[in-house]
Amino acid sequence: MRLAVVGATGVVGDTILRVLEGRGTPISQLDAFASRARDEALHFRGAPLAVRAATPEALAAGRYDAVFFASSDDASAELAPAVLASGAVVIDNSSTYRLDEGVPLVVPEVNAHAIAPGDALFPVANCSAIVLVMALAPVARVAGLRAVRVATYQAVSGAGRAGLEALAGEERDAFSGGAGERAAESPFRAPIYRNVVPQVGSFDEFGDSGEEKKVVAETRKILELPGLHVAATTVRVPVRRAHSEAVFFKTARDTDVAELGAAFAAAPGVVFHEHGIVTPRDVEGQDLVHVARLRAEEGSRRHFQLWVVGDQLRKGAATNGVQILEELHARGRFTAREAVQEAGV
Ligand SMILES: NC(=O)c1ccc[n+]([C@@H]2O[C@H](COP(=O)([O-])OP(=O)(O)OC[C@H]3O[C@@H](n4cnc5c(N)ncnc54)[C@H](OP(=O)(O)O)[C@@H]3O)[C@@H](O)[C@H]2O)c1
Repeated sequence: MRLAVVGATGVVGDTILRVLEGRGTPISQLDAFASRARDEALHFRGAPLAVRAATPEALAAGRYDAVFFASSDDASAELAPAVLASGAVVIDNSSTYRLDEGVPLVVPEVNAHAIAPGDALFPVANCSAIVLVMALAPVARVAGLRAVRVATYQAVSGAGRAGLEALAGEERDAFSGGAGERAAESPFRAPIYRNVVPQVGSFDEFGDSGEEKKVVAETRKILELPGLHVAATTVRVPVRRAHSEAVFFKTARDTDVAELGAAFAAAPGVVFHEHGIVTPRDVEGQDLVHVARLRAEEGSRRHFQLWVVGDQLRKGAATNGVQILEELHARGRFTAREAVQEAGV
């Protein structure tokens, strides 16, 4: 396959390269793009990888089978149409197209059936929503879902390189005798070092943040439950990598911890911890989502709680996109183009 990654110098773009490296994806060409060309090269499978400036012309001329976008909403809106017009598949980590009518929002373990033969545009869902639906889908399958409430504990790398640099800068300031004041270029509203910031994205007139609205709308779309009651409070915490979520849910039918635990144990992509805890540091670099602390509320057969943790750069972004690519490849989506390329046409 001929692939490109737009935003390859960012944290999600870098993770896409590492995920592709680690899997058996058949790749004949891989090109890296960012906002501007760079002298210093990235690396892929041990070879240097030049970084080029992303323009509609350069992306269309590459005759790619698929292009990953890991840049920004604006860049996806500007560049993706040219890529689609060139006949390539777009796998887009931005939020630009996620809620568009007729565009599938796919988490392969949950709703691979949403992919139709002609689809070419595949947004990757919000990282917190992906971690959440990985935990909710097994519940929905065995007992149905009536309502979900979630509080997130989101890593700083969820805000990209700038988020990692803000925490590191504030740590350096504190370790050198300062107060760990908010870093000058921080994407966060308050210092993140030794702190917790209950705002991810900007607030609307009702006080809901952008991240909270994404979690609500995307969870409904992926689970195909448009009427599901979902309420979210999203919070940034001084963790480098992996998002955690405390989830409170009501099922549609009576069930119990044993039945739900068995559903989690059988769910693809999920590790179920019947006992003990799991923390973000335990899951850094992993593709699996971990569920723990499953319990009923005061003996209820409808109201339950759980704790879920997933590496948002892997399963919450890069891995989910690569899984979509693999799903398309397994369905023979690229076979005709590959044959043409091999023939040198
Ligand atoms: N971080 C996460 O956990 C996460 C999870 C899910 C989804 N996402 C989404 O994934 C995307 C990337 O996020 P990130 O966290 O990786 O951000 P990041 O670390 O800030 O990286 C952004 C990347 O986008 C590139 N870029 C910016 N403007 C561009 C343009 N006009 N044309 C081409 N490339 C451009 C940057 O290139 P330069 O180096 O040249 O500036 C850089 O490579 C965003 O849409 C984000 O919302 C992020």
